[in-house]
Amino acid sequence: QVLAAIEGRAELGRRLSAALGIPSVVVVAGDSDEEAWVKDMLGYHAAVCLREHLLPGDVVAVSGGSTMAALAKRMPERAGPPGVKVVPARGGLGEAIALEANTIAAELAARLGGTSVMLHVPDYVREETLQHLLEEPDIEQRIAEVRAATVVVHGIGGALQMAARRGLPAAEQAKLVERGAVAEAFGYYFDRNGRTVLAMSVIGLRLADLRRARLVMAVAGGRSKAGAIAAAAKAYRIDVLVTDEGAGHQILSMQ
Ligand code: BG6
Repeated sequence: QVLAAIEGRAELGRRLSAALGIPSVVVVAGDSDEEAWVKDMLGYHAAVCLREHLLPGDVVAVSGGSTMAALAKRMPERAGPPGVKVVPARGGLGEAIALEANTIAAELAARLGGTSVMLHVPDYVREETLQHLLEEPDIEQRIAEVRAATVVVHGIGGALQMAARRGLPAAEQAKLVERGAVAEAFGYYFDRNGRTVLAMSVIGLRLADLRRARLVMAVAGGRSKAGAIAAAAKAYRIDVLVTDEGAGHQILSMQ
């Protein structure tokens, strides 16, 4: 019975891979919308998968969110390849500290025996402030480092949920509804066809930077994220997706 369940999830992964155009899809049991331990398992499997792909000297950019926090928490505490550096994909989002990319990058680096840097720049600043910030040598150098990441690991969220969580002004939230936004990743909002309908400021990783990365890994689960995952898969290249059965079955039923 256990073997049948494992084989069932492997088959679900293969079908998702074909449906989404993502070369490797790992599916964990359960639905993280329904049970908290499923997100923990998602974090664990994603951590193991990330570890297997790491090479000496990798620069790993990691996003924020509860799924990435689970990944960092479940990363086995054992030295990874030498010279690994973990950087936050973006600055703070005004989220709870435990969910900020900076915090997650620091924890992940500690568990891998690598180093980390912080990006203390708010994601949401006025254009003129942004220009001044970008001219600061320290910030300029860190952003360059983040944008040159060799491995990118990130969460995907529902557009409206993330907009609310980030406290986006009501007018911006209305724009998202009007433009049919369903997914959010890296501060970009996408519609169901994977088109960018809104993008936050440019401090940190940009979508175009993903092309240079050796590996782009997404981790997202829960039935409610099915539409967001499918849209993200159309928006940019994902090499590895770690998801759960809740999201997986729902994605296939939407096709
Ligand atoms: C955020 C990332 O912190 O987490 C987002 O910056 C992502 O890009 C989101 O969409 C996902 O959050 P969670 O809590 O659902 O893993």
